[in-house]
Amino acid sequence: MRTSLAASVGGLLAIWGFQGLVAHAHAHAQSPLQARLDGHDASDAASLCSRDFLGARAGLNASEASKAAIESMNKSFYNKTAGRWTVTDAWWLSGVALQDLLEYMYRTGSRDYLHQAKHIIEKQKEPLPWWPEGDGYFRADSTDDTGWWALAMIRMFDITKDQQYLNISILDEAYMYSYWTNTNCGGGMYVDIRAETYKNAIANELYMKLAASLHNRIPGDTEYLAKAETAYNWFMASGMINGDNLINDGLAENSAGVCYNNALPIWTYNQGVVLGASVELYIATQNQSYVVEARKIADAVLSSGAMTQDGVLTEPCEAADTCNNDQQIFKGIFAYNLAELNSVLSDSPYTAYLTQNAQTAWSSDRNSKDLYDVSWAGPFRNSTIAKQASAVGLLVSLL
Ligand SMILES: *[C@@H]1O[C@H](CO)[C@@H](O)[C@H](O)[C@H]1NC(C)=O
Ligand SMILES: *[C@@H]1O[C@H](CO)[C@@H](O)[C@H](O)[C@H]1NC(C)=O
Ligand SMILES: *[C@@H]1O[C@H](CO)[C@@H](O)[C@H](O)[C@H]1NC(C)=O
Ligand SMILES: *[C@@H]1O[C@H](CO)[C@@H](O)[C@H](O)[C@H]1NC(C)=O
Ligand SMILES: *[C@@H]1O[C@H](CO)[C@@H](O)[C@H](O)[C@H]1NC(C)=O
Ligand SMILES: *[C@@H]1O[C@H](CO)[C@@H](O)[C@H](O)[C@H]1NC(C)=O
Repeated sequence: MRTSLAASVGGLLAIWGFQGLVAHAHAHAQSPLQARLDGHDASDAASLCSRDFLGARAGLNASEASKAAIESMNKSFYNKTAGRWTVTDAWWLSGVALQDLLEYMYRTGSRDYLHQAKHIIEKQKEPLPWWPEGDGYFRADSTDDTGWWALAMIRMFDITKDQQYLNISILDEAYMYSYWTNTNCGGGMYVDIRAETYKNAIANELYMKLAASLHNRIPGDTEYLAKAETAYNWFMASGMINGDNLINDGLAENSAGVCYNNALPIWTYNQGVVLGASVELYIATQNQSYVVEARKIADAVLSSGAMTQDGVLTEPCEAADTCNNDQQIFKGIFAYNLAELNSVLSDSPYTAYLTQNAQTAWSSDRNSKDLYDVSWAGPFRNSTIAKQASAVGLLVSLL
């Protein structure tokens, strides 16, 4: 459904001429390496002919690469009995992997994974064994875990128009909002429900996106928009956004009850979900200020030497190879949220960045089974559900 990449590629074809490019693609198609990169038989020249120039040069077709990565995510990590991926890894990772499947279907019109998505939702909406007091429907022991699944329900509603999914995200919003307090830090939501001590970026970003998304899908709503705007205004003034326009992990509180930036790491997903939230707020209000502020954050990521190395999005933990199972998924979340911002900007300023990242991951970080490792610049060593879902999040952002 996104036309910006196709349009820019069409422009390149017009400028550089199509014939020479087809010859270029054919030349590469003869090489066994390129055949492996293409994930195609080298003799499948007809299919190569139809590719765009950027794709032909790097061998990447985002729609085929997304599908291949989803299939191997399915094959290597999905547990049908459990209705989620890798049951020994964190539950929220499956919520993001589900979001990836839904983004693929939403953006391509495919319904290939709808049956699987319904099965996952049936299983996971049961009361959680480790938090039965939430009484199911994704009401978890942390507000961010609930937020990931609630946003997947928003997309499930977009795809199916079935009210039952929007109803679940309405329950989830109420649950998350019950952990909002004005007494500490002048507002904001606690992340850990048992502790109720820490107000962090991700829980509040997910909440803003959820509340604004509900407004955009419930005709006549005023309640969710007001809550989203309150959460946004609080967040922007909370101190979590540092002088580089990058968002640290959360807030610390002094003995006088004053909250301030805790200077914990600048994770990529914290730069990402706020972009998607800003887009929903912009759609709700047509107030350009949301996209202006979002661009400052996105541009800060692109120009940060720590987060973007040789044009490739990099998690702070990659340098020492210490990314844990949670951290391995963060970049894909940034990518699909950046694509949401890109889609409302007439100059599509992030298409080139997303394309470069996808091409790099596809050619440098992928094995012969279409599995991906954590560093998109490579090399591939092994994969996990988090690493794979992160790559899928990147690839679907080009669709
Ligand atoms: C990418 O692959 C899909 C599915 O095989 C195909 O329909 C589409 O034309 C390809 N895109 C380009 C730009 O060649
Ligand atoms: C994985 O996806 C494919 C659709 O391409 C589907 O046929 C298969 O059943 C899925 N696997 C599981 C375990 O659901
Ligand atoms: C799949 O999930 C079921 C139910 O949670 C569990 O008993 C089984 O061990 C899991 N299989 C694998 C391969 O992890
Ligand atoms: C959704 O919730 C509304 C309000 O509670 C209810 O009337 C409606 O029947 C629900 N729809 C579905 C499909 O669950
Ligand atoms: C647009 O949003 C910004 C940020 O929330 C706010 O300060 C400004 O007043 C809004 N402008 C209008 C016209 O509502
Ligand atoms: C994956 O590769 C990393 C780096 O070589 C290694 O530390 C880790 O143990 C590997 N994981 C598995 C499951 O093999």
